[in-house]
Amino acid sequence: MSASRIINAPSVANCPLLEFGRQVEELAQGGVQWFHVDLMDGHYVPNLCLPARVVGELKQAYPAIETDVHLMVADPLRYLPLLKENRADWVSFHIDATNFSRRTLATIREMGMKAGVVINPSQPIGVLEPLIHFVDYVVLMTVEPGYAGQRFMADSLPRVSELAALREKHGLDFLISIDGGVDYPNAIECARRGAEVYVTGIYTVFRQPDGIAEACRRFQRTLDPSGQKTEDRGQ
Ligand code: DX5
Ligand code: ZN
Repeated sequence: MSASRIINAPSVANCPLLEFGRQVEELAQGGVQWFHVDLMDGHYVPNLCLPARVVGELKQAYPAIETDVHLMVADPLRYLPLLKENRADWVSFHIDATNFSRRTLATIREMGMKAGVVINPSQPIGVLEPLIHFVDYVVLMTVEPGYAGQRFMADSLPRVSELAALREKHGLDFLISIDGGVDYPNAIECARRGAEVYVTGIYTVFRQPDGIAEACRRFQRTLDPSGQKTEDRGQ
């Protein structure tokens, strides 16, 4: 894991396809720790997005950067062998996309990948309680899934605190990831409340006037000033 407590996981679905390689290289130059890869099947969400082989190609070009696959698909179990083949590091799925969340989590781990569940803004945090002993991370959607570029739902903030409290109550150390409309005011507030992973998009790292790499550095500095100092000291 990174020296910093804060993990920047930019959503590569934000890269225009004709500039994909160049923008991914800028993310790498900016020091991102994870690539967030949204896979949409047109069933769980109305949209279609990214083939699984993107995961393998990213891993081949940037082996030190972890791939974080966000499955927005019906029947996530079906896709796990394909993700394993493409050397995915972290895999998360929506708990309402399957009747078998426990089996899906166990299968992801048996395949040697890190396992996570995703919940939508309309689902209570309490639905996670039977699962949190079996996850490496939990992804809180802060928009309705399916499209990039939506605004962060402000009523997500107490949900971050609630999940962090649940984690503490059970003495667990899974990561909390925030996905959707991440902007500075809300990211800073989520960090204060205990979230570690930030799926960044157009409000923080893409389409910034000073370029993607510098925007990634700024995100890291802003969210985790103490982590930055640690790195500066070479520790
Ligand atoms: C939404 C996706 C997000 C999204 C993040 O369905 O899961 O990962 O692309 O990017 P922004 O914050 O720009 O929407
Ligand atoms: Zn996502």
